[in-house]
Amino acid sequence: MARVVVTRALPGPALGRLVDAGHDVHVRAEPLPPSAAELRALVAEADALLCTLEDRVDDTLLAAAPRLRAIAVYAVGTDNVDLAAAARHGVSVGNTPDVLTDATADLAMALLLAAARHLPQAEANVREGAWRTWNPTGFLGFELRGARLCILGAGRIGRAVGERAAAFGMEVRFVGRGDDLHTALADANVLSLHAPLTGTTRRIVDAAALAAMPAGGILVNTARGGLVDQVAVAGALHSGHLSAAALDVTDPEPLPADDPLLAAPNLIVLPHIGSATHRAREAMADRAVANLLAALGGNAMPWPVSA
Ligand code: GLV
Ligand code: GLV
Repeated sequence: MARVVVTRALPGPALGRLVDAGHDVHVRAEPLPPSAAELRALVAEADALLCTLEDRVDDTLLAAAPRLRAIAVYAVGTDNVDLAAAARHGVSVGNTPDVLTDATADLAMALLLAAARHLPQAEANVREGAWRTWNPTGFLGFELRGARLCILGAGRIGRAVGERAAAFGMEVRFVGRGDDLHTALADANVLSLHAPLTGTTRRIVDAAALAAMPAGGILVNTARGGLVDQVAVAGALHSGHLSAAALDVTDPEPLPADDPLLAAPNLIVLPHIGSATHRAREAMADRAVANLLAALGGNAMPWPVSA
């Protein structure tokens, strides 16, 4: 019997399979993530950890968890885990790819459409009682057909966004590893981010990248806030160089209420809901549990991640 610590309650029946397999499963019931100190105390006796993208797993935490053998991250992105440190400590790490691809790609399109057609401003206009008349010149946006979309990251989610965008008639260009982002941005109307956060991609969308785009473009980010220099994004929104930024992710999350980014015009910001569908979140739980059951049984995780 292994002790499994789960840092947050998860949807669906998956955790029951750990119990059925005879493991001692401790699910934290609190709605907020554990502090670093609480997480250290939680893993002190744990054989396995099921954590979210908010739980930082670094050398200090791993050193405090002498029995730990397996970590299942309830996400596709694993930038919260120091993978090299996990390998040094002999801890296997897995994630939940594929099952959230469609949910996240759908949200990227929702953000793009909301920004292109000014949905937040138009909706607020109705609710504020400011809407007086059908207006030939009100809320004019742009159509997706013929617009050029640059997708940073040619992985599963990036390709799924490309498929959707092509169906809308957009011209799609992918920027993968080794491709030059600035060249690709030279004629892009929209930049959508689908790359993992790594040492190479951190702040890759900086002032120079935004300046490489033609004026009036839209930035969509459903990947990680750390990919973006938020000061540069706020500046580009204030100057009008970006006509909108639609962000499901920020750095940090949540943004403090007085963060200058929140004061920028034409910003849409969501509380990191890319994978938030019933189907995706239950399937993510299935994969996280399958990773732990495999590792605790002495087998390779079906969805492993390595440095
Ligand atoms: C969510 O952001 C994930 O990486 O799954
Ligand atoms: C994640 O699923 C990715 O490769 O984009």
